[in-house]
Amino acid sequence: MLMPMTEPDRSLRDEVLAGLAARPRRLHCKLFYDLEGSRLFEEICAQPEYYLTRSEIDILTRHGDDIAGALGENVTLVELGSGSSTKTRLLLDALDAPAAYVPVDISAEFLDESAASLRAAYPRLRIVPVAADFTAAMPAVDELDVPAERVVTFFSGSSIGNFEPSAASELMAAAAEIGGADGRLLIAADLRKEGHVLEAAYDDAAGITAAFNLNILARLNRDLAADFDVDGFHHRAVWNADASRIEMHIVSRRPQRVRLGDAALDFGEGEVIVSEHCYKYTVDGFAEMGRSVGLDREALWLDADGRYSLHLFRQAP
Ligand code: AVI
Repeated sequence: MLMPMTEPDRSLRDEVLAGLAARPRRLHCKLFYDLEGSRLFEEICAQPEYYLTRSEIDILTRHGDDIAGALGENVTLVELGSGSSTKTRLLLDALDAPAAYVPVDISAEFLDESAASLRAAYPRLRIVPVAADFTAAMPAVDELDVPAERVVTFFSGSSIGNFEPSAASELMAAAAEIGGADGRLLIAADLRKEGHVLEAAYDDAAGITAAFNLNILARLNRDLAADFDVDGFHHRAVWNADASRIEMHIVSRRPQRVRLGDAALDFGEGEVIVSEHCYKYTVDGFAEMGRSVGLDREALWLDADGRYSLHLFRQAP
């Protein structure tokens, strides 16, 4: 039975149709993360080719004491897009008597679950979850019941790479502002490297990233009454060296017509929908991006293989 559309469905449909009408056709990468997409992403993180998660764990494990020293005692840690907070435990374990942890995530259900398990693991730590879309507005720490003297905003996973560079630098400025003049921004960025390594990371042999990418179409079928033949498309990951980004493509295998509600969309053979950009930075380029919005880099840590970076920024005096 077809259910009537709700208001949020309608605005999602309008956004999706506008993206698919653009050239190149685009779908927003936030569409990846329905329940199945979130599960597939966790699986991606365990693939041998997807080094990003292991590299971040390597940095937090090997440099934990040094990072804790740079952040200082009694910090309030605000994490943007905290998810299950698994890697954050490495940081919390290293920190010197942290005062509070504020996980910020769009999914309230996910937040409640992870806050409950964190409370059990860290009974003395004040944990104040905030369900919010930080890309729309950053949380106001002074409105929360947490110490606001030394606030560190943590943005992990190299998620900054999924924003276009101008939006990325604005987001960095807004994130650093959460803690005011004495606040810090601790942010991870994946580094530019050989194209074949990057393309393999985004096209693993087990086909998990392919399934993750094509799951968007299944989601549109389910949520927006579309009729994509998911097998009529394939996944492709392309390194665009000029733009310094991996591009995730969904490619039509043949000419085909797809219905989405009342709209009909015609795809040619080989026609592409761009579903994600993953920007890769040099360590200097990332510091420069911070500087362009008034942030000074205070410290930098790399993993053992030099593939991935963690930066500590503060607002320039
Ligand atoms: C969430 N984000 C940092 C991932 C990335 O590497 O850009 C998303 C992803 N897309 C494909 N694989 C992983």
